Amino acid sequence: MLPSFAPPSSEDMRWLAGWLEAEVGFAFSATKGYLVHSRLGPLALTLGLEGAAEVIAHLRERGEARVRQAVVDAFTTNETSFFREPGAFAALEEHILPGLIEARRPLRRLRIWSAACSTGQEPYSVAMLLLERFPELDGWEVEIVGSDVASDAVAVALAAEYGEAELGRGLTPERRARFVQVHPGGRGGHLRPEVTRRVRFQRANLNDPTTLPDGPFDLVLLRNVLIYFTEARKRAVLKAVCDRLGPSGVLLLGGAELGCDVPPDFRAQHTARAVWHCRR
Ligand SMILES: C[S@@+](CC[C@H](N)C(=O)[O-])C[C@H]1O[C@@H](n2cnc3c(N)ncnc32)[C@H](O)[C@@H]1O
Repeated sequence: MLPSFAPPSSEDMRWLAGWLEAEVGFAFSATKGYLVHSRLGPLALTLGLEGAAEVIAHLRERGEARVRQAVVDAFTTNETSFFREPGAFAALEEHILPGLIEARRPLRRLRIWSAACSTGQEPYSVAMLLLERFPELDGWEVEIVGSDVASDAVAVALAAEYGEAELGRGLTPERRARFVQVHPGGRGGHLRPEVTRRVRFQRANLNDPTTLPDGPFDLVLLRNVLIYFTEARKRAVLKAVCDRLGPSGVLLLGGAELGCDVPPDFRAQHTARAVWHCRR
């Protein structure tokens, strides 16, 4: 149970909503007091402050970088899993990657960006898929970049160390046997270097193009993240991401991005279980 201190005032809540929108693009309702309490309460304890109202006051008055980042980390939802939305991975395997490999064969170079990678399962799943199904990429220059605004999520991704529950979500027994070095005692494990050395991570804020990795990329995965943004932010983020795609580049969206306004110079392609966009 969190101790209950004086709740933030409605003026503090409005200020926080505006700050979250400006900082990370979130459409955050100033009426969600329970959310502020559940997210900022634990953070207050770790910062040695008295409750959510004091965290907001600290942010308003001092705005230290570490407190700003801790508040962003507290408000992000890092839900993810290996091979999440299997239809998207089937589309990658059967349609998207074969097409990209064909287009990139003359240069033997492939660049992939997982643009809101959370704790790393998404880009690591792509690395596993490439190792399993596309051995012809051996000898190519393949770069997979994972980025996220949440520094605590990026730290987990870099460590590549997962508990039993996380490994159990999305990894088949065959993949687990091949790609995971299980801890002594058999509970949890870390991904083998064969996978981890293919992915690099950085902190990047989709709401601030100056922090994003440089393009051009051949494939960008932008999945289950736009749902948190205001409509204006969704359009701006889609433009910034599409600007980083090369001429044969592909944008793979998640289930939560269906219906978002992809720039008109891209056309949609789909299977029954996945949607992706290519340049016209
Ligand atoms: C629900 S997770 C989705 C992870 C993964 N793409 C998937 O589909 O499993 C959403 C991620 O988006 C990240 N995120 C939210 N706002 C962001 C922003 N402005 N810039 C970059 N990442 C952001 C969160 O930190 C979180 O890790």
